[in-house]
Amino acid sequence: MGEDSKDRAKSGIFKERIKDYMGKSDLLLELYSNLSTTGAVTFSSKALVNKMLSHTNLQGAKLIVELGGGDGSITQGIVDRMDPGSELLVFEISKSFCESMEKMFPQQNVRIINDSAENIADYLEGRKVDYILSSLPFSFIPPEVKDAILSNSKIALNQSGYFIQICYSYLLKNLFKKHFDKVSLSFTLKNLPPAFVMVCS
Ligand SMILES: C[S@@+](CC[C@H](N)C(=O)[O-])C[C@H]1O[C@@H](n2cnc3c(N)ncnc32)[C@H](O)[C@@H]1O
Repeated sequence: MGEDSKDRAKSGIFKERIKDYMGKSDLLLELYSNLSTTGAVTFSSKALVNKMLSHTNLQGAKLIVELGGGDGSITQGIVDRMDPGSELLVFEISKSFCESMEKMFPQQNVRIINDSAENIADYLEGRKVDYILSSLPFSFIPPEVKDAILSNSKIALNQSGYFIQICYSYLLKNLFKKHFDKVSLSFTLKNLPPAFVMVCS
């Protein structure tokens, strides 16, 4: 390759990197600008996503729902593990996050839904869900909406289904106990801030 072509190739790579960086910084800006609905200052770390998904066996799951898709960090973990024949519905109230996730996940079996999580039943066409994976900021959500999300999620799950939640406060356990018979808990320091994973059934 001549010097000119090398320079052009390098500048192409550089532009791609700038684009990636801008994409990530735009996502963070969206996160910070809407703290009352996003409830977080960073997205979930890969270690936290792995911890959350270690409580699942997505192979064989037919219908999976994610609540609060955000930057798609958990979505990516789910997509990497789910069967090609299964379907993933991702609820997210931010239009910008939805537009970004639609580009990240163009596959036909991933549906990005720009609606609030309590409306889950409107999109299921009577089907039951195997796993609901949530990173919703429950500490910031009004009580009546919290209760609607959790009771509608419980109804949506099949009998052996699980609702799995990432959260930063141990006290939220009481909220999940109101809606689910069993709630177990694990913890990871490998996230900023350190986080709990609540597994509800
Ligand atoms: C803490 S962020 C998590 C983002 C990403 N999944 C992660 O783990 O880093 C919570 C996300 O939930 C979304 N959200 C908040 N309330 C919601 C609701 N009622 N329905 C759907 N999404 C909601 C926010 O816009 C935000 O993107």
